[in-house]
Amino acid sequence: MYNIAILASGSGSNAENIIRYFEKHAIIRVSLVLANKPDAYVLQRAANLNIPARVFNREEFTSPEFSERLIKEGITHVVLAGFLWLAPQHLVAAFPDRIVNIHPALLPKFGGKGMYGSKVHEAVISSGETETGITIHLVNEEYDKGVPLLQVSCPVTSEDTPDTVAAKVHELEYLHFPLAIENWIIKNQS
Ligand code: GRF
Repeated sequence: MYNIAILASGSGSNAENIIRYFEKHAIIRVSLVLANKPDAYVLQRAANLNIPARVFNREEFTSPEFSERLIKEGITHVVLAGFLWLAPQHLVAAFPDRIVNIHPALLPKFGGKGMYGSKVHEAVISSGETETGITIHLVNEEYDKGVPLLQVSCPVTSEDTPDTVAAKVHELEYLHFPLAIENWIIKNQS
């Protein structure tokens, strides 16, 4: 059995989508949700779906005990779904090529520290881009710099606003992220 821990900081719509996707899966399940904000709605979503969840702070996150605990709990893969902190070295070392993130743009453009949510879509529009999309990538110690697993694009027109772009990008996320996670885990079975 492969056990996924999802790390999130906000609403958690991707987390919910992933949880539901694997609910009846034969060998993959989401067994834990972790949030770095006590008021993150993702915690409510986890409770509604009967998935164990807990909150952690920056001190706990930077301690190697954070990763040791996940290993003890049988976590095999880590999914960052709207998680805003940089993965610490101990986490990347504990889960080599076993951490994946989704970014709401076509990296390497519009990535890096501070580029998240609407800020990304505003930058895409003000740069006059004619397309944007999602990037699902492995995570290393640099923001948004890991090996890309999948990129899917969508058009950006002059009528688009950050909100209409966000809606198109979220649609791509919900459609592709669970499947990309499944392929990543199955392909890298070890
Ligand atoms: C998504 O747009 C994702 O690409 C980015 O953060 C957002 C998370 O949204 N990493 P949600 O919390 O899953 O609704």
